[in-house]
Amino acid sequence: MFDVIPEQPEHAAAIEALLDLSFGPGRYAKTAQRLREGNIAVPELCSVAFCGEGENRRTVGSLRFWPVMLGSRPGLMLGPLAVEPALRSKGCGIRMMDLALAEAKRLGYKLVILVGDMPYYTKVGFGPVAPGKLTMPGPVDPARFLYRELDIGAFTNVHGAVTKPDANVDFEALLACAD
Ligand SMILES: CC(C)(COP(=O)(O)OP(=O)(O)OC[C@H]1O[C@@H](n2cnc3c(N)ncnc32)[C@H](O)[C@@H]1OP(=O)(O)O)[C@@H](O)C(=O)NCCC(=O)NCCS
Repeated sequence: MFDVIPEQPEHAAAIEALLDLSFGPGRYAKTAQRLREGNIAVPELCSVAFCGEGENRRTVGSLRFWPVMLGSRPGLMLGPLAVEPALRSKGCGIRMMDLALAEAKRLGYKLVILVGDMPYYTKVGFGPVAPGKLTMPGPVDPARFLYRELDIGAFTNVHGAVTKPDANVDFEALLACAD
């Protein structure tokens, strides 16, 4: 029912419309947004879902990932994830995340965080970040601050502030030597 493909520049307008519809203007005030502004999403992991044939074919889902530092360790932040209202609860969101998380692991990422509804994200292996372990650059409901290890044990010694990667730091190199 859904084709999931890598996000391309020409999808931008449809994605913005979907995000406006799904989150409203409040999306720019979220703490996670502080980690997106001035950051560059990971192109290999951002995807869109398409549905329909011919002139009915349209963008119905969007998922993005961002590079972040978790204390001194490189990681990813998942989100936003949005699916067109009429096509929700048909497996699109979970499928997009399963595909992207498998690709993230293949690319060498070990940790993913997000801020979102725990009952949903536990379906793809996320759990709550222990209080005090990581701090976000603004207020976050602790029950919605979640992580997933792509490499077992990768979260054990992680602590500190969640930040955008420094522009002068070679994030790929950090990723390659992260334990
Ligand atoms: C959240 C969202 C991306 C889910 O996408 P989707 O394609 O409908 O989800 P899926 O079909 O893959 O999964 C559906 C399952 O997740 C559950 N689910 C969906 N959203 C949920 C939520 N917020 N909390 C708990 N469970 C949720 C459904 O009940 C369904 O459960 P079931 O399989 O037991 O019936 C979509 O509802 C959406 O775009 N919402 C508005 C934007 C948003 O809130 N994004 C996520 C930020 S937390």
